[in-house]
Amino acid sequence: MRLLLDTANIEDIRYINTYFPIVGVTTNPTILSREGGDPAARLCEIRQIIGPDKELHVQITETEYEKIMAEAEIIVGALGKNTFVKIPITDVGLRAVRDLTAKGYHVTVTAVLSAGQALLAASAGADYVAPYVSRLENICENGVEAVAEIQQVFDAAGCSTKILAASFKTAREVVDVALTGAATATVSTFVMQKLLVHTTTDTSIKGFRDDWENVFGKRTLGSWLTNGEQK
Ligand code: E4P
Repeated sequence: MRLLLDTANIEDIRYINTYFPIVGVTTNPTILSREGGDPAARLCEIRQIIGPDKELHVQITETEYEKIMAEAEIIVGALGKNTFVKIPITDVGLRAVRDLTAKGYHVTVTAVLSAGQALLAASAGADYVAPYVSRLENICENGVEAVAEIQQVFDAAGCSTKILAASFKTAREVVDVALTGAATATVSTFVMQKLLVHTTTDTSIKGFRDDWENVFGKRTLGSWLTNGEQK
């Protein structure tokens, strides 16, 4: 699965980018406000950490058509061509999606809660739609099934728009969404950690180390292979 990080925390992005091939980073006004400071400097630093080729999804803060168009131009001008302008699904938003994609901008339609909204976003030319899995689960709807339905609609309609599954609260949700065949998701640092860590993995690793050291002491396998048995 192609995974992006849903955070604007510099330390987290820097660290996870060292060990996992993230596709990019997604942000929204809430994520940026959580970190405080200067959001422009933060976004530039994120771009610098992930490099020019990875995806950086940045949500507009304007709500009027002309201002959205102008802000999109500023966002991409400041953060580079692999920046995806995130636009919430509204009538004005769809107008901007249609016109920005016609001009060659990458656009992600966000805050998608239904297959109907996803269909409109795709028909307007969106590169991605971001369905909010746990926000659906929170209101007793099935977020995983919603992602599956959106994919079915896209396949039936022959859309090239991709799903960027978002708003995960648990690792289980990510796995269930992956099982639907969804190719791309964005996860918080918390969920990334939950996907990675398992207590039985930790005890297994400790068991390997203890068993090795009981027989071979602190000498590593590399040392044995390069130096043979040392008398
Ligand atoms: C990402 O594109 C979305 O903005 C984000 O995943 C929303 O997540 P939340 O529901 O945890 O705020």
